[in-house]
Amino acid sequence: MKKKKILNDIFNLKRPIVCLTAYTKNIANIADQYADIILVGDSVGPVIYDLKSTRDVSLDMMINHGKAVVKNAKKAIVIVDMPFGTYEKSKDIAIRNAKLIIKKTGAFGVKVEGGEEISNTIKYLVNNGIFVMGHLGMLPQKIKNNVHKVYGKNKKEVSKIIRDARSIANSGVFSVVIEATKESLVRELISEIKVPTIGIGASLHCSGQILVTEDILGLTDFKSKFIKKYSNLNDKIKTSLKKFHNDVVKRKYPQKKHLY
Ligand code: KIV
Repeated sequence: MKKKKILNDIFNLKRPIVCLTAYTKNIANIADQYADIILVGDSVGPVIYDLKSTRDVSLDMMINHGKAVVKNAKKAIVIVDMPFGTYEKSKDIAIRNAKLIIKKTGAFGVKVEGGEEISNTIKYLVNNGIFVMGHLGMLPQKIKNNVHKVYGKNKKEVSKIIRDARSIANSGVFSVVIEATKESLVRELISEIKVPTIGIGASLHCSGQILVTEDILGLTDFKSKFIKKYSNLNDKIKTSLKKFHNDVVKRKYPQKKHLY
């Protein structure tokens, strides 16, 4: 199916779009059953590699995780984050890295963070056949010293984000993630641009919602008002590993049925 048709089908669903992150085969297999879009986010850095920031994530990491996820997503489209430092400096660097990601992973498209300052680059990628998702509001790649904040609290921020949204929409992003942004601003933004919006701590009125799967599952200790924990896998893993420990030390494992 042509990529534009696939996107039309997703964004014309008569319900909000479901987006989840995945970095691995096992999560991709399950997320594929419940998500319209799977994002191989650069949150892989803090979540899987215990990196302090998404700024430390490499292109190789994104490509390797992207490959595993694409291989295991049969239904959902897969978007791979372009890591910090791989697209901001020039459109030539950006196109080289975007093409590499798509070629090596087979992903549907890429996501980049930022507004007006990367609009020309986005336009260049789009004109060269790359499907680009934008990201506005809180931009994890721009966070320094781990200071997270909510965006759109003053007039200056509001007008900047609206300007950024118009700018990247005009450059051809097929959708835009809006993170940790005041609801009133998101509502204004939605009325300003035609591009579908995916919220994460944004608004119920976005075209869809995304959360980091490990946060939903209770595997991380990342705290944010927008996270809804649907499970506490940490506790479940702890219980299982404790049982294994006890079985081993009490010589209850392996049993006869486990032996050759
Ligand atoms: O890296 C990521 O997982 C993201 C989502 C939180 C939107 O960018």
